[in-house]
Amino acid sequence: MITLKEVQKNPLVIEFIKQTEVTLKVHDYTHHGLRHSNLVADRARTVARVVGLSKKEQELSSIAAFSHDFANFLSRTYHNYLGAVMFQQIFAKDFSPKELTTIMQAIANHDKYEMKFANPVSAIVVLADKSDVHRSRVTVKDMKKIKDDIHNRVNYATKASKLGINRKSKRITLSLTIDTKFVPLIEYFEIFTERMVYCRQAASYLGYKFGLVINRVKLL
Ligand SMILES: [Fe+2]
Ligand SMILES: [Fe+2]
Repeated sequence: MITLKEVQKNPLVIEFIKQTEVTLKVHDYTHHGLRHSNLVADRARTVARVVGLSKKEQELSSIAAFSHDFANFLSRTYHNYLGAVMFQQIFAKDFSPKELTTIMQAIANHDKYEMKFANPVSAIVVLADKSDVHRSRVTVKDMKKIKDDIHNRVNYATKASKLGINRKSKRITLSLTIDTKFVPLIEYFEIFTERMVYCRQAASYLGYKFGLVINRVKLL
């Protein structure tokens, strides 16, 4: 099995992520490129380590997390399925069938309407991905355009975002600092309630409770 470092050096992976950045920027869509991939990979590795997965599963979690959005340059709608298949095409010789299917399933599952967890790796990728709400995800520079789109508005208003995990209290907590002068808090829930439900389901699969703290107020 190869490591995340080797996956990150693959020229096709580098180009997929680059083209994803270019394509989504054209549509003023939130950032799904290298920053997001690295952050989700980091968060996934941390969660995998703290919940007690093996070194190998930690590596698989970070690889699936790093690769989860790299097919966005082909299609937003099917990027999860395409990404899973593309991963297999590139790395068929570098992983065992079991490792490959674990990664493919985690990539395919992260954006599914009927999201279901069959192994901890897929739950970890969902937690790491769906918790990434932050100002740096806004690619649009024009303030009028930012204000006109609710996803851009809410991400822009999120000045800090941290995913904490506590093994003793069995809690995984997303802490956000949202500028409520920029957006009313209700707008956060308008677009992210579904994501928070996915996070709660993923945490529960891992045997944890999901917590949400916004501006130091514990909401979950
Ligand atoms: Fe995605
Ligand atoms: Fe993502």
